[in-house]
Amino acid sequence: MTLIEKLKLRRSYREFESESFDIDLLVDAIEAAKYAPSGANKQPWTFCIVQDPKIKKEIRIQSENTEKAFYQRINQDWKSDLTPLMVNTEKPFLEHAPYLIVIFKHLFGYDQNHQKTKVYYPDISVGIATGILISILTDLELDILTYTPSPNTFLSSILNRPDNERPYLILVVGKGSKSYKLPEITKKENEEVIVIYPSSNQ
Ligand SMILES: Cc1cc2nc3c(=O)[nH]c(=O)nc-3n(C[C@H](O)[C@H](O)[C@H](O)COP(=O)(O)O)c2cc1C
Repeated sequence: MTLIEKLKLRRSYREFESESFDIDLLVDAIEAAKYAPSGANKQPWTFCIVQDPKIKKEIRIQSENTEKAFYQRINQDWKSDLTPLMVNTEKPFLEHAPYLIVIFKHLFGYDQNHQKTKVYYPDISVGIATGILISILTDLELDILTYTPSPNTFLSSILNRPDNERPYLILVVGKGSKSYKLPEITKKENEEVIVIYPSSNQ
């Protein structure tokens, strides 16, 4: 299959097989993603690969705590939008998947003299690098979930990250469980998302 064909088949998994694979595969994938474009080439990102079961368990416990508060906080529209995805406050995949890649964005940098330096467009830059990483993992026939606990500041403490970094999202990575029932969702038609100038029917 080509990369384009694989990307068209990509789906989010919320259950994973426990089988693992060589961490070098992820290091290679991140090495390629780090060549992503970034505002003024500041590369405002850190990718933390977590395979330690104790750390994964701690991330699961704290994520489930935030999820309980999250579901009490969100409005009915948001709850309805989540219904087809069959998600709830339990996040066992955070322990079952072989790897979590916790991605941090940099709000500022530090130079060699530990003086603060500026970064530009960190959200856009980290989003692009994350998208490239998801494409590479898809090409490697690994499955992922883009997981965004909110608030997510507990990730900085668990992983002991410096004060210039803020958690961006967690990529849960592994082989999706064969028994996982994928939510029935649809994707927009080309005509809804692609506009060509000049249009061919003018
Ligand atoms: C920014 C972002 C945040 C997301 N957060 C969560 C999340 O916290 N929990 C979850 O189960 N899925 C999360 N997802 C996955 C989406 O629900 C999923 O991509 C969407 O339903 C489309 O399904 P698909 O990825 O299978 O095509 C997130 C996706 C994105 C891009």
